[in-house]
Amino acid sequence: MTKLVVLILGAGNAAHVTAGLAASRENTEARILTLFKDEAERWTKAMGDEGLTINLHESVGDVTVKSKPALITKNPAKAIEGAHMIIFCVPAFTHQGYFEAIEPCIKPNTIIVGFPGQPGFEFQCLDILKDKARRCPIINFESLPWACRINEFGKGATVLGLKVHLQGSILKGESNPDKDPCEVLQAVIGPETKLEVGKHYLAPILDTKSIVHPPIMYAKWRDWNGQPLSEKPLFYQGLDETQIKYLSGISDECVAVARAITAKRPDIDLSGVVHLQDCYRVDYKDTIGDPTNLFTIMKSNSAYDGLVHPMIDEPNGKFSPNFRYRYLVEDVPDGIVVTKGIALIAGVPTPYHDEVLAWCQKKLGKEYLVGTDLTGKDVKETRCPQKYGYNTLEDLLRIK
Ligand code: NAI
Repeated sequence: MTKLVVLILGAGNAAHVTAGLAASRENTEARILTLFKDEAERWTKAMGDEGLTINLHESVGDVTVKSKPALITKNPAKAIEGAHMIIFCVPAFTHQGYFEAIEPCIKPNTIIVGFPGQPGFEFQCLDILKDKARRCPIINFESLPWACRINEFGKGATVLGLKVHLQGSILKGESNPDKDPCEVLQAVIGPETKLEVGKHYLAPILDTKSIVHPPIMYAKWRDWNGQPLSEKPLFYQGLDETQIKYLSGISDECVAVARAITAKRPDIDLSGVVHLQDCYRVDYKDTIGDPTNLFTIMKSNSAYDGLVHPMIDEPNGKFSPNFRYRYLVEDVPDGIVVTKGIALIAGVPTPYHDEVLAWCQKKLGKEYLVGTDLTGKDVKETRCPQKYGYNTLEDLLRIK
């Protein structure tokens, strides 16, 4: 039987867990490509002969997986040679560099996975890989199967929480893979999270968990007085009613966009796009203590134990909010700007998106939104559909 060769892109939390699990599977070779600084060298050195140790969450029996990826490199040609599957495990703002790096070497029927791809993954993939993308299955998930953190770089990571169910989509284009792409990925990550890719590609975009961070950041910090804090506030479990209002409002708008698209094109099934609280009830079934409403869900989800706001260390042991963290740097241009762009195409007003975006872009020093339109000078740095020339529903729905 041919060995399955899986290439993992990146060297962060998600890459560590995915690489550790992939390398532990029978007849599977795991490789890592990281283009960032000296990470490939550092990871190779840190791992030595010992390999990786991945601690799985207590909900799957406190299992510890030990394994050793075959190659960690910054050389795209070496990494991609003979790879059957390429898994993007990096923040979305780095995807462009990876797409450009794999473009010259990618072969037809290589399975491309956004894990998660985040909004705009397909638009960017088609834009950079062009015809080559049409000959590869492109899978995108709305999130990761895990909440996870590195314990020690190059040595191991811990899965803090596990989703029992993860939804995604697949664009098959003109590809002709000899195995079901989702089944291949399922074997790589293991059975604990059930993967499904039956959704329309717009569904994971509108359902994405990346819409969670900007409204929480906005509602938490919009009135901050600039004084450093003596503790790092809890990100999810520290939510108050105002933050929930904005989180829920953004989610309502995404659902409204999905409904508006289906009203115009009943053949497009986006019924799976549901309010965040309904996603959480399914995805985090085992870790939520009180599923009554979004507020209780966020407060009682043990997968979020200890997760705090991104903060910068200040002198005297104090902390200030970090507005350069991926919760804004990634989840605005590759998150709510994309959902806003689809809302514009669907003709759905988005007062929550607009209010949150107006604040976030100021913090990022960017201009995306002007009034309620995406006509700012920095739209070209985002992955909204308009950037790629998709301006009508027909444009969006042509992608298959
Ligand atoms: P991370 O923050 O650990 O990723 C860091 C890695 O990204 C670095 O090691 C490097 O390889 C790469 N990187 C960072 N800055 C770069 C730059 N300027 N240029 C090139 N590469 C750079 O991210 P993590 O936690 O692995 O997440 C990956 C994706 O999964 C993100 O989209 C995240 O939103 C998503 N996600 C993560 C979850 C988690 O629990 N870690 C949970 C749900 C989703």
